[in-house]
Parts: sequence; structure tokens; C-alpha cells
Amino acid sequence: MTDSIVNERTAVVTGGAQGLGAAIASHLARDRFAVALLDMQEDALQRAKKSIESRFRDARVFAAAADLSRPEDVERVFQEIDSEFGRIDVLVNTAGGSGTVAVREIEDLPPDVWNTVIGNNLTSAFLCAKYAVPIMRRKGFGRVVNFSSAVANGLAGPSGTVGALLPYAASKAAVNGFTKQLAKDLGGSGITVNAISPGLILPAQGRVRATFDALPAEARAATEAAIPVGRTGTTDEIAAAVGYLVSEDAGFTSGAVLSVDGAAS
Ligand SMILES: NC(=O)c1ccc[n+]([C@@H]2O[C@H](COP(=O)([O-])OP(=O)(O)OC[C@H]3O[C@@H](n4cnc5c(N)ncnc54)[C@H](O)[C@@H]3O)[C@@H](O)[C@H]2O)c1
Repeated sequence: MTDSIVNERTAVVTGGAQGLGAAIASHLARDRFAVALLDMQEDALQRAKKSIESRFRDARVFAAAADLSRPEDVERVFQEIDSEFGRIDVLVNTAGGSGTVAVREIEDLPPDVWNTVIGNNLTSAFLCAKYAVPIMRRKGFGRVVNFSSAVANGLAGPSGTVGALLPYAASKAAVNGFTKQLAKDLGGSGITVNAISPGLILPAQGRVRATFDALPAEARAATEAAIPVGRTGTTDEIAAAVGYLVSEDAGFTSGAVLSVDGAAS
């Protein structure tokens, strides 16, 4: 890939205000992608934008606040991205999470928490792909990376950093199915669709880091002990996996769910 081609490339990163999304966006900017950050947290979004711009002086960074589970918000921000950059090469659907309400028993799970968690993890990925794919089709090239979780296979032990476990596991299992079907549907288009399935990753900031740090010492130790590799993962390890999946060399990798979880699943 030549520098000039790399310079024009545009990556949309959802959930880009903090945590994994902010780290992935920073790596993509380092690799000379123009980056569009989308998130519902406006202040954190602006901080993430400034952080990338201060680290990489030539970086081109666009940021827009949106609730990505809402069709009208998603349609609006993808129109804005199209006006700003005129192309989308990469979509990284990082937005999601298990929420702040720690619920383990189905009897205690409010339907609105179920709907919110499904909306944040699954509907957001669908809507962002729906509006990104037509823009990718213009160039006959695209890379979609969705975010699943080791929890998609269910979790029998302590909940650790997971808030509402049941809708979270259900939404991430659905992200796997969404990934595999969309990969097949877009088979001949030049657009690949894959998912990364992380185990416990502790970014420098963000909800998961804050929740983990607030756990009692025994709960932190039990959570780490349940990871066969013996430690939590790093944002660099996730960004490296994204880097492979969005590369031109990865054109024959589509419909994969790549575990980056220390053998936890
Ligand atoms: N960190 C981990 O250990 C881990 C493990 C497995 C999977 N994951 C997945 O990786 C992704 C990123 O995790 P993280 O640790 O950075 O989480 P995080 O909670 O720190 O960040 C998620 C971001 O997504 C945004 N978001 C959520 N719903 C949104 C919506 N409807 N519209 C717009 N923005 C929305 C939030 O505002 C937040 O900035 C998530 O999908 C998560 O489920 C994380």
C-alpha cells in the first residue's frame, strides 16, 4: 500500500469517546487513516478527538455525537461523514457494553435495560453498517469490524466487570450471527465483515477500567485467575487485531469471529 493511498483512507470508529474505541481510533490515526469518531458522550468525544490531534499532528479527525441505536441519528452522522470525507473504507463498531446496572437474575432484569443493551450492542452495529455499506460500495472496498465478547458463550463464574449479563451475552451472540450473515451477503462486493471477541481488556480509562478498579481485591483476583493466559488483555492487543482485519491483505478473511481473550472462551 502506498502512502498516498493510506493518507486518503477513512475509518469510522463507533464508541470512540473512551476505552477500546478511543485506543483503536488512535492506532488508526497513527497508521494514517482519517478518523471519524462517533459516540453518545459528547464531552468525552471532544476529549478523544483532541487527544488524537495532539498526538499525531497531521491527523484528520472528525467527531459527531449520536445515539447509534436510533436510526435518525445514524442516518444524520453518516451523511455528515460522507460530506466531510466522501468515502468510508473502514467501519469499526466498538460502541456497546453491558451497561452500568449490575443484574444477574432474570427476575430482576427490567425490560428497558434489556432493550438498551441490545440497542447499544446489536442495533447500533446494524444501523452503522446499513449506512456505511452504500458508501463503501462506491469504491468496491470496505472493512467492517464488529465487537463481540467472550461472554457471548455465556459466563458461569463471577460477573466481574459485566453489568447486565443476560442481554449482554444475547446481544454479543447476535453480533456473531450478524457478522457471519452480512459477510456472506456482501461476499462479492469487496467488503469484508468480521468480529473481534475480546476477553477482559482494561483500557487506561472508560467504564470497564472504572468498574474493575472498584471491585474488591478478591473479586479482581478471581476475575484474573479465570483467564487461562493469567492476565487481562491490553488495548494494543485489540488494536493490533483490528489492524489486521482492516488491512488490504485481509481480503480473504470474512465472516470470522476472532477471539482475543487469553483462551477464556
Ligand atoms: N473492555 C473489555 O473488557 C471488553 C470485553 C469484551 C467486549 N468488549 C466490547 O468492546 C467494546 C468497547 O468496550 P469498552 O471497554 O471500550 O467499553 P466502554 O463502556 O468504555 O466504551 C463503550 C463506548 O460506547 C459508547 N456507546 C454505547 N452505546 C452507545 C450508543 N447507543 N450510541 C453511541 N455510543 C454508544 C459509550 O458511550 C462508550 O463511550 C464494547 O462493544 C464492549 O462490549 C469489551
